Amino acid sequence: MNTVTVRASKQYDILIGSGLLPTLGAEAKKLGKARTVCLVSESTVYPLYGKAAEDSLKSAGFSVVSYVFPAGESSKNGTVFLDLLNFLAENKLTRSDLVAALGGGVVGDLAGFAAASYLRGIRFIQVPTTLLAAVDSSVGGKTAIDLPAGKNLAGAFCQPSLVLCDTDTLRSLPEEIFRDGCAEVIKYGVLYDRDLFAHLEEEGLAFHRETVITRCVELKRDVVMEDEFDTGARMKLNLGHTIGHGIEAKSHFQLSHGKAVAAGLAIVTRACPCPDTPRILAILEKFGLPTKTDYASDDLYTYTLSDKKRAGGTVNLIIPRAIGDCAIVPTPVESLKTFIQAGL
Ligand code: NAD
Ligand code: GLY
Repeated sequence: MNTVTVRASKQYDILIGSGLLPTLGAEAKKLGKARTVCLVSESTVYPLYGKAAEDSLKSAGFSVVSYVFPAGESSKNGTVFLDLLNFLAENKLTRSDLVAALGGGVVGDLAGFAAASYLRGIRFIQVPTTLLAAVDSSVGGKTAIDLPAGKNLAGAFCQPSLVLCDTDTLRSLPEEIFRDGCAEVIKYGVLYDRDLFAHLEEEGLAFHRETVITRCVELKRDVVMEDEFDTGARMKLNLGHTIGHGIEAKSHFQLSHGKAVAAGLAIVTRACPCPDTPRILAILEKFGLPTKTDYASDDLYTYTLSDKKRAGGTVNLIIPRAIGDCAIVPTPVESLKTFIQAGL
């Protein structure tokens, strides 16, 4: 097992390894004070891992109540959020109790935001079961739900008290969903780490999971400790995402996030080429991720502009200068369409 410690507005450990789920209760116990844990999960993950999580929590002496909602992004909404808050209240969770989010980024974001809001904030544990959640969404304290006007428009920065990542749970992931997470893993290599990138180039989908997840989490930990509230360095984690979000929105969310991010990364590196551009495009292809989109530049421009990270007349694009070295480039909105055209 590997342990990565985050020291931000809250200090917490991220535990990564095989066979960790049965230790959830014992690890939660170390956080102290709580009597009840509300396990939050969804309809695909709960039947696979819910009982193991509940048994572990009960053996450690917790009273456990479980809230399970239908799997999928469409559940990350205000109705399910309020229903979960009511469930916490009906089960009389107190300020010293805990929420445990068992699932991918949808569960983590929704349960995290509920924990951040209930009684003005109770502690929560992230138990990520997708590669994306393991390397990205479970770490760093961004929680959110979607509004009809767009994704992640309501939320809070609220760090978890523990992240427990049992790499065995990734074995049941459909390969397509695993590949989506790989787009985020590749992103960390392009942003910060040539050795990680080279390992991925060599191993492809067979990369060593515990080692690679740990490295990605260390890299994210460093960014979060430098810029917890996303006003500077953390923006770099948007590599591939700015135009990727435009592609995702234009597809009406039929194209997965990971594939949209991969295509977004390919567009920025083609629009502003560097000596490593061919390697970046080649690794996306090696992982079976798209490097092209059929959408027209006009459409991508319109949808990219609706991204919530736009600041006034400028969009911050993250541009690779080399593998392991990317720059934040404030780009005037008027230049964005030409930029996208150059990258298609
Ligand atoms: P997800 O939670 O919907 O999971 C993807 C699919 O995998 C679902 O169908 C789910 O049921 C299934 N699944 C999950 N674990 C499984 C397992 N172990 N075995 C079999 N099937 C399993 O999506 P995701 O890709 O994990 O996360 C995407 C969400 O994360 C989005 O809502 C996005 O906005 C959010 N996100 C948040 C952050 C953040 O910092 N908070 C960062 C990135 C993404
Ligand atoms: N997923 C981007 C961030 O955590 O900032």
